[in-house]
This record gives sequence, C-alpha cells and structure tokens, in this order.
Amino acid sequence: MRLSPVRNQVMDIIAKCSTTKARAGKLALPHQVVDTPVFMPVGTQGTLKGLTPQQLKTIDVQIMLGNTYHLGNQPGEEVLIKAGGLHNFMGWDRALLTDSGGFQMVSLIKLSELSEEGVKFEHPKNGTQMMLSPEKSMEIQNAIGADIMMQLDDVVSSTETDQKRFKEAMYRSVRWLDRCLSSHKRPDAQFLFPIIQGGLDEELRRDCLREMTARQVPGFAVGGLSGGECKDDFWRMVTVSTDGLPTDKPRYLMGVGYAVDLIVCVALGCDMFDCVFPTRTARFGSALIPTGQHQLKASEYSKDFTPIQEYCPCTTCKTYTKAYIHMLFKMNHPSACHMVTVHNVTFQAQLMHGIRDSIINDTCPEFIISSFKKLYSDPS
Ligand code: GUN
Ligand code: ZN
Repeated sequence: MRLSPVRNQVMDIIAKCSTTKARAGKLALPHQVVDTPVFMPVGTQGTLKGLTPQQLKTIDVQIMLGNTYHLGNQPGEEVLIKAGGLHNFMGWDRALLTDSGGFQMVSLIKLSELSEEGVKFEHPKNGTQMMLSPEKSMEIQNAIGADIMMQLDDVVSSTETDQKRFKEAMYRSVRWLDRCLSSHKRPDAQFLFPIIQGGLDEELRRDCLREMTARQVPGFAVGGLSGGECKDDFWRMVTVSTDGLPTDKPRYLMGVGYAVDLIVCVALGCDMFDCVFPTRTARFGSALIPTGQHQLKASEYSKDFTPIQEYCPCTTCKTYTKAYIHMLFKMNHPSACHMVTVHNVTFQAQLMHGIRDSIINDTCPEFIISSFKKLYSDPS
C-alpha cells in the first residue's frame, strides 16, 4: 500500500477550551490558511446558487465545497483539465474541498447500483451512466484540484434497519480508502481525507477508527450521520469518533449545519462542517437569526421595515428591510434568494467566529449557554 506523503502540521491548534473538547486552529491548505472551527458553504456544481465566487470572498468565506459526482457530469473532467482545475475555471483563489460522490448513493439511491467495484449512477436527465469507482473519484478530484478531497465511501442512511449493511459498508469504505490512497496522483498538492463510517454502532465506529487511523493521512472526516437519527445517537457517535481521532489533525463532520449541532459538535472536538441547509433554506425564504429563523414569505413581514438581523454585517441587512425582501419573494424575484443567501452564509460565518473567539478567550461554556438561551428561550 502506497502511503500518501504528508506535510507535517497541516493544522496548528492555537487554543483549546479548558472545559470542553473544543479547539481553535489554523489549517494550512495550498490555497488558503483556514481559521477553524469553520462552516463550509456548499457549491455543488462549483458556485453557490445565487452568489458569485467574488461575492463569497466579500463575505470572507475561506473555503467552500464542491461535489465530484456533479462536477464530473458538468463541466466534466476534460473541461476541468483544460481549464487547469476548478480554481481557475471558476475564478476562486481560496480553498476548495470536494466530496467524493459517495453521498449521492444515499441522495440519488434510485439511480445508483452498488458493487465492490464502485457505484454506478444513471444521470437523472439524460440517462447516461457513470461508474464511480474509488479510482474514478480520485481521477475526477485530481482534475478538479481541490485543496482537500474525500475518499469514496460506501454510505448507508443512518435510518437503515439492516445492521449487516453497516458492517459491510464500513469494511468496504476501508478497502476503498486504500484504493483511493494508491490512485491519488497529487498527494503533495491535495490532501486526501478518509471518512469514518460504522452507522450508529459504537463498536463498528471504533473498528473503523482503528483501521483508518493506522493509515498515514493529513486529516479525517466523520460520515454517515445527520441523516435522521435521534440527537442522542448522533452526539454519541460524534463523541466516539472524536475520542478515537488523533488530536493534531483536522476533524471534519460531514453534513452538519444547524446552529445547535455546530455548537455542540465544536464542543465535542470537530473543526470543519458543511451542509446545504443554510443556502437551501434561504431559497425558500428562511433567514437564520440567533433565535431561530424568519420565514420571510409570511405576511407578517409585509410591513416590517427593519433588517433581517440588527447589527448583522452583511450587505443585505445593511441595505434592505424584511418588507422589501418579502415583496421580492412574492414576485418570485431571483434577487430575493440572493439577498437571503448572503445573509445566511454570513450568519453561519458569524456563528463560527463567535465560537472560535470564545475558544481563544476560554469562554466557550458561556458562549454555549448564551447561544442556547437565545435559541430556546420562549419568545412570548
Ligand atoms: N455528506 C454527508 N455525510 C456524508 C458521508 O457519510 N459521506 C460522504 N462522502 N459525504 C457525506
Ligand atoms: Zn444579514
């Protein structure tokens, strides 16, 4: 097994909470030093819906996510190689992370067929087939050129009832990790992360941790969670995972983006997060605020001439009122989605800044209590 050469100290831990397992760090990626804990907005096909890469820079986003399966379909490997990678293609000079396509097994389940070789997908629109093997996922991700790429994993929905399926998927993910490590062509320019699987079974998660931490890799992801399991199981699995990971490498918890989960999972020792939730919910007119969210399509906002959130530094809150955005949604005007997306991405970034500052000042428990008071206080 060829081991990927690893630059020492990908991550500098600059502060640790004295009460919880939270850490603040600096993640030195090829295109950007990323301050952690960090929330990474998702731009499936390269860019975020409703926002240009330039606008993301204005919001001070340091790292965003792309998806191998979608980018492999459109623009496709050939265009990506000719463009010199996705950074060049989309005019983004900060960090990028690509998910491997494994998760589409769950999200596009009716269109996929799983075997030891890989996952065969049928394109939902034109019917063409793509065999996404570990080698193919690496080939596409090498063409994309993201700072961090993910192994192809065998993902099972956490609500699956067949327990044997979790064991099979976990061991297959370990075998696929080795195939990814051996076929990764640019280990010095792109970091490859394994993904810890094992469903909601502590034993299986520990077996996976033992296997994957024995490989020489620059960081780790925790997968297979946030798919409808109860919070107790979710937090237990995150705890088992972070307890079994090395302390000096980044930990990325996949598919997590609700404020409560971000706060708790930072306290459990996670450094990186992604989720479509803040950007998807924006397009449905839902603006995130410290006490929850505003459904801007609701008629109560038609004469509300205040910003979404007082003191929010985003251009939407500095410029527009809820009443105006409410009207734009009523008209189905695309700028309404843009405005709320700008706000929600800013909200997530501000939340992570707040957590990070509290770790640095060692006031993390106070931050958690005050955030939960806002989130769960009775508004009446
Ligand atoms: N996104 C959310 N969860 C997962 C996971 O378990 N695997 C992958 N590849 N992506 C994810
Ligand atoms: Zn705002």
